[in-house]
Amino acid sequence: MKILVTGGLGFIGSHTVVALQEKGYEVVIIDNLSNSNLSVLDGITKITGRKPIFEQLDLRDKPALVDFFNRYDDIKGIIHFAASKAVGESLEKPLLYYENNLTTLIYLLQQMQEKTIHNFIFSSSCTVYGEPESLPISEQAPIKPALSPYGNTKQIGEEIIRDTAKAYPQFNSIALRYFNPIGAHSSAAIGELPLGVPQNLIPFVTQTAAGIREQLSVFGDNYPTPDGTAIRDYIHVVDLAESHVAALERLLNSRQKDNFEVFNIGTGRGSSVMEIINTFETVNDLKLNYKIVDRREGDVTAVWADTGLAEKELGWKARLTMEDALRDAWQWQQKISSK
Ligand code: WQD
Repeated sequence: MKILVTGGLGFIGSHTVVALQEKGYEVVIIDNLSNSNLSVLDGITKITGRKPIFEQLDLRDKPALVDFFNRYDDIKGIIHFAASKAVGESLEKPLLYYENNLTTLIYLLQQMQEKTIHNFIFSSSCTVYGEPESLPISEQAPIKPALSPYGNTKQIGEEIIRDTAKAYPQFNSIALRYFNPIGAHSSAAIGELPLGVPQNLIPFVTQTAAGIREQLSVFGDNYPTPDGTAIRDYIHVVDLAESHVAALERLLNSRQKDNFEVFNIGTGRGSSVMEIINTFETVNDLKLNYKIVDRREGDVTAVWADTGLAEKELGWKARLTMEDALRDAWQWQQKISSK
């Protein structure tokens, strides 16, 4: 069965392609290579023994997209990762973010209607919750005004899909709200390839350990948390990838309770920045150069997921540990640094 994965050469996309191929799905990847690399195809092939079909295409190019769906008329489901994801950049270039993340979503949904493709999975984010009122955070928690255009594209994206689902009962969709994806495939054949100076914690940690960055800045140690540093729910990207297979199978087997559903995808466990640093040092037997600096603007104190709904309805649960993720992230960093 043929599944389209947009952004399939990106960090989460590539791990999901592996998970899909391992389950026997035939994958077609669309990617514009704006934040990814063709070499990822080799990594996927190395792990699964099968090269996915790849089409270099920018989803903003509507005629090219129409042509794509004319050529691939047997796609049974779409997992849509392709998007811009840098929170800081989105504040500087909001229109680019709205175009990249929303115009493309609309074009895809239009093509799905046109070609009667019914199954759609959307990458959403825990960022839609803002600063939570209570923890763990469930899918019922209120959506807070977004702090960045990036966050807003995820909120509006969900609304666009919800409205589409309302208008077209045959359209089946799931939004997965990711918490903080980290790690890499344990083979070190694929992983995260951040462009420029990493904004996210783990790539900054691994690049500091590799000597690419001199020092990690810990953003704030005066949060109301046990050690004063902020808390997040870090999920291994391989677990995250598997949640997409579970969601896809729910769609394909008509197990949905509603034709638009939302699930939190996290571990259900919160870890502080200091816990991450200490665990990274322990599992990899090294010392990290870090210093405490001021808080980063826009950061929330603590977020972790209530994963009960995903467990019950998707039959999916994260199984890898933070130790696994930090070991795999370091292995991957060492591999790309040695090239
Ligand atoms: C994690 C923690 C930082 C870097 C963001 C987006 C979210 C999602 C993932 C993506 C925080 C601290 C970080 C550093 C640090 N979207 N930190 N030093 O902010 O939870 O989520 O990325 O596609 O939408 O908002 O993740 O990895 O940036 O930060 O101390 O150099 O690490 O303050 O507490 P965040 P992050």
